[in-house]
Amino acid sequence: MRLKKTILTLGSLVALSSFMQAADSAEVLFDVKCAMCHSKTRPADMSVVVAPALMGVMRHIKMTYPNKEDAVKFMVDYILEPSKEKAVCMPQKLERFGLMPSQKGNVTQTELEKITSWMFDNFPPEGFRGMGHGNRKGQGK
Ligand code: HEC
Repeated sequence: MRLKKTILTLGSLVALSSFMQAADSAEVLFDVKCAMCHSKTRPADMSVVVAPALMGVMRHIKMTYPNKEDAVKFMVDYILEPSKEKAVCMPQKLERFGLMPSQKGNVTQTELEKITSWMFDNFPPEGFRGMGHGNRKGQGK
């Protein structure tokens, strides 16, 4: 009896973890390679922030590249070869944070395709309203 239960538990654990791995590997890559600069949540203390938070980045990416394929292509290229001319984020962000350092050597193109596709699918989170671009319609009085 007990053995059967153990096997069952083990089985579902394995199934669960392989399912989670597929869903999470892109996020894990992001956590390891990007999250030290790009926060996944709204930063609590703006004074320690070194790069725009992920939701803000994706909001601006999607304004320029609403199509996922274009957005992923743009981001993979930008992350390996950033430049002021290519950047879609607000000019004051570039001024404040400086240009993103190229992540060449830190992340591969294949990893980037995974990461940026996950970013596109999950950010900005539903209901997110940015602070820029006069997007506060209906909020406050
Ligand atoms: C050392 C800090 C740092 C790391 C690490 C970093 N970034 Fe950035 N990133 C920045 C800064 C600063 C900006 C804002 C300035 C700019 O756009 O170049 C930025 C901007 C971006 C943008 C917006 C580009 C645009 O058009 O302005 C994207 C997309 C992005 N990062 C994705 C990533 C991903 C994905 C990773 C992980 C592979 C990553 N970044 C790792 C600092 C970083």
